[in-house]
Amino acid sequence: MSDGKIVHVVGTGTIGEPLIGLLCDAKKDLGIDEVTFYKHTAKELDRPKIKGLVNRGADLSVAEGKTQDFQELGLEPVYTAEEAIKRASVVIDCTPGGTGLMNKEKYYNKYKNRISGFLAQGSEFGFGKMYAVGINDAAITPEDQFIHVVSCNTHNIAVLIQTLAMKNNKNHLKEGKFLCIRRSNDISQVKSFVPSPEVGTHKDPMMGTHHAKDVYHLFKTLDIDLNVFSSALKLNTQYMHCIWYNLKLDTKTSVEDVINKFNENPKVAVTNKQAANLVFSFGRDHGHYGRILNQTVAVLPSVHVINDNEIFGFCFTPQDGNSLMSSITMTERFLYPDTYEDYLHCLGPFLLQEV
Ligand SMILES: NC(=O)c1ccc[n+]([C@@H]2O[C@H](COP(=O)([O-])OP(=O)(O)OC[C@H]3O[C@@H](n4cnc5c(N)ncnc54)[C@H](OP(=O)(O)O)[C@@H]3O)[C@@H](O)[C@H]2O)c1
Repeated sequence: MSDGKIVHVVGTGTIGEPLIGLLCDAKKDLGIDEVTFYKHTAKELDRPKIKGLVNRGADLSVAEGKTQDFQELGLEPVYTAEEAIKRASVVIDCTPGGTGLMNKEKYYNKYKNRISGFLAQGSEFGFGKMYAVGINDAAITPEDQFIHVVSCNTHNIAVLIQTLAMKNNKNHLKEGKFLCIRRSNDISQVKSFVPSPEVGTHKDPMMGTHHAKDVYHLFKTLDIDLNVFSSALKLNTQYMHCIWYNLKLDTKTSVEDVINKFNENPKVAVTNKQAANLVFSFGRDHGHYGRILNQTVAVLPSVHVINDNEIFGFCFTPQDGNSLMSSITMTERFLYPDTYEDYLHCLGPFLLQEV
């Protein structure tokens, strides 16, 4: 680690690209001296993206042996992959499907004595302690050097449970069921589009899909045992994920009570809009490069209560925004353990109350 506060992002995909951009734009307010990033493949198609990130102030690193490939594209790497990791204060891994775990084995463990902290994203179950901002901050200790920022839908389910079923750290959830209605691919991706609704299977014998399982483990860091189950379905749209929820409580509630609770939680944006494209479009105009950082957008007209204790409704998932918020909060906590909250005010404008 060098003297300055250096944040290194591995991966420039749906999560990595906006994260690098946001870190660069808010660098001064966040108290960061340098942002570096790792680009895996030298692709002509990605040249404008890399140039854009470099122009915003980030330094490019590439694998040893690939420098010439990037130079041939007119890009000038500043560090090798390992050099960039070695000199970082915090490393944020934004690669998919187990690559973060491989990087942990290969690089991160090797440099953990000199680096403050490592983060990986949704698909890296087992990387470290699970984290979602505002949900389990109390469970994170100075010993937690490896953090697994949970997936976007896990953030969303977690904030629903916290807002509607928890009071003074007491769990009032008897049973929670969730249907994650997913967009087929991100607007930044061309692969994996589906031509029609595609239903998922239930791989976890007790909890269905990984969404409920992840939220179970997230709350377990607070010693809270949840009774939750989820299913998933992909729709042929590129807009936002949507979640149908059903929470059965051991206390009384009402539609008015639910709406008040949503309104009172700053991590929740509320909306009267029922179409995902309207919410997405609002984000384009009022978010950071189109992204709002709330954990959920709760659709107020969909809230329904039966038997005075069972809530139904829909919400939309700000799919990369909530992971970005947790990633930056945890990064600041690694950089400034005692005063990190003071550095986060600059993100306030992207936490909207109403969409
Ligand atoms: N997409 C979302 O909305 C979303 C939301 C929350 C969390 N997440 C989580 O974020 C993580 C990343 O997802 P994503 O959607 O951003 O993925 P993505 O768009 O597919 O991007 C993946 C990035 O990883 C790089 N990469 C691939 N293999 C690599 C390797 N072996 N070594 C180093 N870098 C490698 C790719 O580089 P090249 O293109 O240069 O090869 C690319 O920049 C996942 O854990 C996912 O669960 C995603």
